[in-house]
Amino acid sequence: MDLKNKVAVVTGGASGIGAAIALEMALCGARVAIIDCRSKVDADGILSRIEEVGGIAVFIKADVADFKEANAAMQSVVEFFTRIDILVNNAGINRDGVIWKMSEEQWDEVINVNLKGYFNFIRAVAPLFREQQSGKIVNITSINGLRGKFGQANYAAAKAGIIGLTKTVAKELGKYNVNVNAIAPGLIETEMMKNADEIVRTAALDEIVLKRLGQPEDIANLAAFLCSDLARHITGEVIKVDGGQYI
Ligand SMILES: NC(=O)c1ccc[n+]([C@@H]2O[C@H](COP(=O)([O-])OP(=O)(O)OC[C@H]3O[C@@H](n4cnc5c(N)ncnc54)[C@H](O)[C@@H]3O)[C@@H](O)[C@H]2O)c1
Repeated sequence: MDLKNKVAVVTGGASGIGAAIALEMALCGARVAIIDCRSKVDADGILSRIEEVGGIAVFIKADVADFKEANAAMQSVVEFFTRIDILVNNAGINRDGVIWKMSEEQWDEVINVNLKGYFNFIRAVAPLFREQQSGKIVNITSINGLRGKFGQANYAAAKAGIIGLTKTVAKELGKYNVNVNAIAPGLIETEMMKNADEIVRTAALDEIVLKRLGQPEDIANLAAFLCSDLARHITGEVIKVDGGQYI
């Protein structure tokens, strides 16, 4: 995939799927801005990996749930790289609990990071993309946003919201030559999943027809494709990468 001369922003890029996407974008020739709420030390691993492969990356600390921080972060990217071509909304959290026990805080935290966080960055980049008449947006949702998940009302609601957001923004920005798509991963081996119960992993493996857990690279490969010219006629789609877990 050729992403030379492109500038890519990846939220939640310090670890897991976001880090794999940042690396893949760099391998394809893009300059990368990694945005994460962790401190830079936590992103040093991915930053040096990108440097090792001859890529260029910067780290910007920001909480995606904060509208002002999101705007300031995007402004810093433009100051640093002079432009933005790609936005990958990926930062996400889970705070699981069955609905009769879920606290208001659990609900708000997940909706604010996983849904409002995506709005914040799209809102910041949309005027730029409109003006330059080009851009790519990839939103990481989840198969649980399509089918629901026991104990994840907050997470599944946010992930389903991302699908509506993706399709709407695809319609609104299409005439400005902006592609907006979503990727719906099944279970992927990352830190988020390491915290999951062994029962959850075993149950997922039972469902996955390919009988292996997904890797962050499986998502990164599709993200790079969707941001390349090869995918120029694909927009408003939600593509599952789940080893057949959903079917
Ligand atoms: N791992 C899976 O099985 C799986 C499945 C489906 C969807 N997803 C989605 O993929 C995305 C990445 O998940 P992951 O598994 O790599 O998780 P992860 O926990 O490994 O990485 C998430 C990253 O987001 C960052 N982040 C969290 N809250 C933030 C905030 N408020 N502001 C800025 N950064 C923040 C974290 O610091 C971390 O670096 C998430 O949106 C998640 O919902 C993951």
